[in-house]
Amino acid sequence: MKILVVGGGGREHAIIKKLRENPAAEEIFALPGNGGIARDATCVNIGAKDIEGIVRFAAENEIDYAVVAPDDPLVLGCVDALNGAGIPCFGPDSKAAIIEGSKVFSKELMKKYGIPTAEYEVFSDAVAALEYVKTCALPTVIKADGLALGKGVIIAETREEAETAVRSMMLEGAFGESGSRVVIEEFLTGPEVSVLSFTDGETVVPMVSSMDHKRAFDGDRGLNTGGMGTVAPNPYYTEAAAAECMEKIFLPTVAAMKAEGRAFRGCLYFGLMLTPKGARVIEYNCRFGDPETQVVLPLLESDLLTVMQAVTNGTLADAEVKFSGKNACCVVMASEGYPVSYEKGFEISIPEAIRDDVYVAGAKLEDGKLLTSGGRVLGVTAVCDTLPGAIDSAYEKVSRISFGNAFYRHDIGARALMVYGEAE
Ligand code: AMP
Ligand code: GLY
Repeated sequence: MKILVVGGGGREHAIIKKLRENPAAEEIFALPGNGGIARDATCVNIGAKDIEGIVRFAAENEIDYAVVAPDDPLVLGCVDALNGAGIPCFGPDSKAAIIEGSKVFSKELMKKYGIPTAEYEVFSDAVAALEYVKTCALPTVIKADGLALGKGVIIAETREEAETAVRSMMLEGAFGESGSRVVIEEFLTGPEVSVLSFTDGETVVPMVSSMDHKRAFDGDRGLNTGGMGTVAPNPYYTEAAAAECMEKIFLPTVAAMKAEGRAFRGCLYFGLMLTPKGARVIEYNCRFGDPETQVVLPLLESDLLTVMQAVTNGTLADAEVKFSGKNACCVVMASEGYPVSYEKGFEISIPEAIRDDVYVAGAKLEDGKLLTSGGRVLGVTAVCDTLPGAIDSAYEKVSRISFGNAFYRHDIGARALMVYGEAE
């Protein structure tokens, strides 16, 4: 079988490594992939947003199955286009991907179907939004409607901050078209949990829960990033919380999308907050999370390709989706200065013994050398029976990897350990 994976980050590397476990996956192409992925797949220099180029490549190379991983091509209709060319895909079509592509859509969906989320108002007029933030409760949360590389959310502690956020999104175009409409919503508190799920539009199967660490620095300080590390499972996500989320959030969301004529087939990501009043949806993503995937898939015991094909074929109810009871920790090694500005081009050294545990996000191959080429460079995952064991082992592996200007958080998993009262 010839498989094509669209994307080129750590998440795609994790998906590719897992797909390779099935001997039927004879050949895997990554579009565009990266210098580290090149070890596990054939990388082809076609960008993830070049829908025409992707479809042409897939047709010319008689691809049997495609996995579209990033948000942009999903929202832009990559799955629609591939399906149109007769290629079966894992991932939602553009009608369903709107659940991530428009925050206004997702908030209205939740309101219509009674799915618990933060109270909110939508504004397409900057004057009205500026008026609203003069009196609303603080802190308040301001979100650009469209995709904004995970940066379109501002938590304003003061009225001045709220005003600045509205102005930059709506008047100064900080996020382009994405900010022409904004959602202003209630500030919620509680532990955050990521739950990725497989759904074929009918059945929903949650994967093991996880916890992201979005801020750049230790102690959850600094700017929001794409994610500096993850642990799975998330110990705050108790069995009771899981049952509540299944009943009030997961099943109703999948049913709502179907009722809207937007049946979601792929990985539906629930960004949740466990507030004192119960679980609330913070955001939906129409794809696997990054770096959640780098801890979730290593714990998947069932065959990923089989599960993905069941999602595509609408037979998920009959598929086995089993996770090991172990714990995983992924520490992201980034370039000093990320997420603002950073130097690239440093040689990366990874001992052969731990290569299988490394998911490369931003690196290129030059004369046989692997060089840094992005903000997030790679993630290192360890799996262990216990969470402290997984954390220690991940950091031990980190200590064996080196590249110029390497930078990483030292406290991935510390908040999770607090559940057990084990954090220092
Ligand atoms: P998002 O891009 O929607 O995931 O938002 C980024 C981060 O902002 C989330 O992971 C939360 O930490 C925070 N956030 C978003 N919405 C809210 C909210 N209503 N209340 C509190 N924090 C929020
Ligand atoms: N780690 C958060 C995301 O993938 O959006």
